[in-house]
Amino acid sequence: MNKTYKIITYGCQMNENDSEKISGMLKEMGYTPTDDEKTAGVVVMNTCSVRENADERFFGNVGNFKHIKKKNPDLILAVCGCMMQQPAIVKQIKEKNPQVDIVFGTHNIEHFPQLLEEFIETRSRTIEIYDDDQGLVENLPVDRKYPFKSYVSIMKGCNNFCTYCIVPYTRGREVSRPHEKIIEEITRLVEDGCLEVMLLGQNVNSYGNDRRDGYGFADLLRDVNAIEGLRRIRFMTSHPKDMSDAVIEAIATCDKVCPSIHLAIQSGSTRILKAMHRGYTKEQIIALVEKIRNRIPHVAITTDIIVGFPGETEADFEETLDVVRACRFDSAFSFIYSKRSGTPAAEMDDQIPDEVKHQRLNRLLDVLHEIGNDQNAWFQDQDVEVLVEGKSAHNPNKLSGRTLNGKLVNFTGDMATIGTIIPVHIDRAKTFSLDGTAIGSLN
Ligand code: SAH
Ligand code: SF4
Ligand code: F3S
Repeated sequence: MNKTYKIITYGCQMNENDSEKISGMLKEMGYTPTDDEKTAGVVVMNTCSVRENADERFFGNVGNFKHIKKKNPDLILAVCGCMMQQPAIVKQIKEKNPQVDIVFGTHNIEHFPQLLEEFIETRSRTIEIYDDDQGLVENLPVDRKYPFKSYVSIMKGCNNFCTYCIVPYTRGREVSRPHEKIIEEITRLVEDGCLEVMLLGQNVNSYGNDRRDGYGFADLLRDVNAIEGLRRIRFMTSHPKDMSDAVIEAIATCDKVCPSIHLAIQSGSTRILKAMHRGYTKEQIIALVEKIRNRIPHVAITTDIIVGFPGETEADFEETLDVVRACRFDSAFSFIYSKRSGTPAAEMDDQIPDEVKHQRLNRLLDVLHEIGNDQNAWFQDQDVEVLVEGKSAHNPNKLSGRTLNGKLVNFTGDMATIGTIIPVHIDRAKTFSLDGTAIGSLN
């Protein structure tokens, strides 16, 4: 039997973290990874539904497996992730994609080994989707990509129901992991050589709200900060409405918590923010960012922005540009609004024409790049601390890694320093990255 597997991951960090768990479970079952999906024994497609083009890409790729399976008929094709939580998608797979063997959702990834074994025995298609969480499952094996840095999910789901967003429907309600379990997991990771953790949640600032024991995200940051041997703590995503003074204070005072905040604003127009159901105003964003910058020196603040939300006028868009200029974001993911059926915004009047959306995106990118360039300029000729992640993607003779505040650095140095934290001198600051030279030895 062909016990090789390939996982294709389409989505966000949470989706990647699920793939790491699926990979861990497959390894425990005696499978080994392969890069070639055409010759693999098992292929898992872990889908994302956040924008329409993600759906299209998935159906294109799933269609290719009709041909691949003609040549490799024993290949087992499993699909999972956020798209599978939408009945219309599962229906389309059932009716039009007989090449798919196993379908499961975001609430039951721990059942995958069982579903796979059942399929191998019966060779009949298995579909298992739950509407909501089946309770948190702890201690799944996780196949982590790097030994020195790791994702740690601290919560699942989202309660916010922003009117454009599909995530609350695909990931269910917020469920926070007990903090003892999180601390235990990170302690074990550090024993295994992990230096940096990224605490993951759709809205980490509301961590603990569902547990009602008074223990929140600020407490978690402080307790993780106390873990000996851990060097860096990152977290994402932060929602402006839940960014409390207690959390800002914890970031400012915990030495391992990186001065790097992904604060997703989505828009700068109070009117659009209201229609998005975000719960804050233009003025509140500007005041919050100013407060964070005053309290946390050299903090990098990054964001997510959507252009072309239904009803967005030229004046609304200008307000977004105002906020971007006032907040001086270090970088941003900017998205063209994508209609997701089942969300309230999909039904709103006054959907914006594609060409207007594209034109606004380009104008936004111009402003973001100019500011990003200025923000990076500060680093010119500075010495910074870098966690060396591997060879540079652009030049295999160089290394790359990230500064404390998350800036990408490509630099000349010793390959033996991969996986360690070293000082690097920045020779040249660029718009999207920094170029440098390692100075000093291993620490
Ligand atoms: N929970 C996080 C991330 C959610 S998804 C947060 O609230 O920030 C990541 C990003 O995708 C969002 O921040 C948003 O900017 C974008 N996004 C979500 N739905 C979208 C849609 N329908 N169209 C375009 N972008 C969308
Ligand atoms: Fe989506 Fe809003 Fe939840 Fe983020 S906070 S996942 S944008 S509903
Ligand atoms: Fe993530 Fe996409 Fe789901 S962004 S939560 S994988 S819809």
